[in-house]
Amino acid sequence: MRLRDKVAVVTGASGAIGQAICVRLAGEGALVAATDVDQERAAQVLAAVEAGQGKGYALGLDVTSTASVQCAMQEVLKRSGRIDILVNNAGGSAGLRQELTDFKDAREEVWQWVLNLNLAGTMRCTQAVLAGMIEQKAGRIINIASIAAEVGIKQRSDYAAAKAGIISFSKTLAMEVGAYGITVNCISPGLIARNVTAKTTDQELKSNGTYLGRCGRPAEIAAAVAYFASEEAGYITGANLTVDGGRVLGPKASQ
Ligand SMILES: NC(=O)c1ccc[n+]([C@@H]2O[C@H](COP(=O)([O-])OP(=O)(O)OC[C@H]3O[C@@H](n4cnc5c(N)ncnc54)[C@H](O)[C@@H]3O)[C@@H](O)[C@H]2O)c1
Repeated sequence: MRLRDKVAVVTGASGAIGQAICVRLAGEGALVAATDVDQERAAQVLAAVEAGQGKGYALGLDVTSTASVQCAMQEVLKRSGRIDILVNNAGGSAGLRQELTDFKDAREEVWQWVLNLNLAGTMRCTQAVLAGMIEQKAGRIINIASIAAEVGIKQRSDYAAAKAGIISFSKTLAMEVGAYGITVNCISPGLIARNVTAKTTDQELKSNGTYLGRCGRPAEIAAAVAYFASEEAGYITGANLTVDGGRVLGPKASQ
């Protein structure tokens, strides 16, 4: 129960990783505002939170809309009085709209869409909570980036650039807000399987792309988020934690 009495906002809560983050933070004692552009699915996440004896509520929040972000954050402040932890998890590539392409064929409108969802979405939500965190002289901002920022990913140059932007934004913000007791950190997942249950075996997650021989589980990203949110990580800021089964290490000798 490292997060007892803390109030956490999670964006993109209905996705695989978002749901795992909500369940984990609530399991550690935080009151969780599970937000997503899809409010109905966010309500289902709340059911998972409550099944684990956690507490929270679901809210609609579209990270691409300043009005929606401000409205949702105001609602959290109205209901819970403060925001201690922000997890900027909402994101994705042009694959969400079946428009993955090599850069030579890229359309500017798609680039803008991906940058808006990932990078500007992170910026908007952060800006909406920052004044309150500065006033309370405490806060944890945890941004979900990707190993794509470090090693690239074909047909997703926009996504890789946006995630790299999130990492450098986080470092700069960490420098600016450290004096207020606010930490800002990133987590860069490698390939994380989406349809995972407690019964899924490592064998079923098999992947040749990692040194651990498998994909990651959403709960493994959630564990890293819970750590950054906790008091134990109080001296860590501006960090980017890679959680990828060794995927970004050098080439395997056998290949
Ligand atoms: N799954 C992976 O392998 C992987 C790897 C690296 C990084 N990531 C990152 O982790 C995060 C979560 O990924 P995931 O795999 O759970 O994805 P997902 O597609 O399962 O979930 C993304 C969630 O974001 C929500 N969303 C989409 N647009 C939104 C908007 N405008 N406003 C608010 N919410 C919105 C969706 O409704 C969905 O619930 C993303 O930032 C993603 O880029 C994932």
